[in-house]
Amino acid sequence: MTFTIAIDGPAGAGKGTLARRLADHYRLNLLDTGLTYRAVAHALIQHALPLDNVSAAETAARQVDLAKLDRAVLSAHAVGEAASKVAVYPTVRRILVEKQRDFAKTPPGAVLDGRDIGTVVCPDADIKLYVTASAEVRAQRRLAEIESIGGSANFSEILADIVRRDERDMGRADSPLKPATDAHLLDTSEMAIEAAFLAAKAIIDDALAKRDKV
Ligand code: DC
Repeated sequence: MTFTIAIDGPAGAGKGTLARRLADHYRLNLLDTGLTYRAVAHALIQHALPLDNVSAAETAARQVDLAKLDRAVLSAHAVGEAASKVAVYPTVRRILVEKQRDFAKTPPGAVLDGRDIGTVVCPDADIKLYVTASAEVRAQRRLAEIESIGGSANFSEILADIVRRDERDMGRADSPLKPATDAHLLDTSEMAIEAAFLAAKAIIDDALAKRDKV
């Protein structure tokens, strides 16, 4: 038997950190599915191929190895933007979703975070969380992150970027970002990560207790 926690939400809402905390706590495998779309985008960029070359994107998607996703390389902002563009292609999604489902099925189960986990990848997940925060708060967090490593950036440019990415991820025809009907909503606008973790843990422990009673 496996246990699956699906976490969806827009870029910068804190779902990655939350997913890591939950995977550690419940001793589950962890997959940041955004990295799979980033790996496809990165492969195209490396070969100087346009992001709308769908057959090259499909080939890159087939070559994605979940065990070899290099966060350091893939976390670049430009790669995230490009990932959001290749993620609109249904054939690319289908290839990656199959790999993500196989990962979820591996015992003891997993925490997966992304945009379509509760709606498409794992519609039968034991727990679904939709983690969100206002665009302004997400932009502020990103600015603080950039400044903490000695960089500088412009708040309104970051905000415009976030709004554009939300529109693309929520507006695409195939598997748009939206909460599953049975997802628990977690708005982290006014919440530190520890509080978000405790709120998620309360939801999960409650579901586990009910399940044990059945
Ligand atoms: O979470 P992230 O910033 O690493 O994701 C990068 C892009 O990948 C995101 O803007 C849209 C796409 N993505 C997706 O379409 N479906 C997922 N499950 C995860 C990410």
